[in-house]
Amino acid sequence: MTLQSIEIPDSINQIEHSPTAIRLMDLASEHIDAFMSDNESVPENFVNCDFRLVDQSLTWMEQTHLLQGRRFCELGSGFGVAAMLASLRGMESVGIEIESDLVDASCDLAETLGLPAKFYCGSFVPRNLSEVFELGREVEHVETHEGEAYQEMGLDLDDFDLFFAFPWPGEEYFFETVFEAGAAVHSLLLTYRGRDGMHLVRKT
Ligand SMILES: C[S@@+](CC[C@H](N)C(=O)[O-])C[C@H]1O[C@@H](n2cnc3c(N)ncnc32)[C@H](O)[C@@H]1O
Repeated sequence: MTLQSIEIPDSINQIEHSPTAIRLMDLASEHIDAFMSDNESVPENFVNCDFRLVDQSLTWMEQTHLLQGRRFCELGSGFGVAAMLASLRGMESVGIEIESDLVDASCDLAETLGLPAKFYCGSFVPRNLSEVFELGREVEHVETHEGEAYQEMGLDLDDFDLFFAFPWPGEEYFFETVFEAGAAVHSLLLTYRGRDGMHLVRKT
């Protein structure tokens, strides 16, 4: 198994957003600001990605017919906005997040918006892939103390067509390791890499 890199053109930043996506992103930003000011102990690993770039990447992937199916999973979903943007497009969308406060906040936001995205509290690091799990214990911003979320979801890594994650700098390799070890052949992993934008790989 290998990962094939797929170049995303810089021109995606010209892609327009739908009015519903704009509403989602605006409301999410308001909810995140309120969450940050109400909570003295904001989970230390939570930083949100560039939602606009996620939405533009999803539009571009649909336009270029890169998706093989409609199941989406956000690994470490935080406020779950990427999962909700996918849900807005009719994808069957879930987020896995280890911090229960963030899971509650994403469920509230999805309910406010009437979106069927589902959020599960637990770890995205599968325990049955023991080498991957052991590797995960060494990754600073990936928590492994909680049980995995897959059993509760009734879905495994290899049931999804597209994953999204925002790894901390230097930890991208771990998300690719999880993806390569457990995801289905032909599925895609989209990662947000801060100033370096979006990165897309397909498992071949
Ligand atoms: C950098 S934030 C990204 C949040 C969101 N994906 C976004 O892009 O806005 C990473 C998130 O992963 C969560 N996280 C860390 N380890 C995890 C694990 N093993 N399973 C699930 N979530 C995890 C953190 O609590 C944090 O909310």
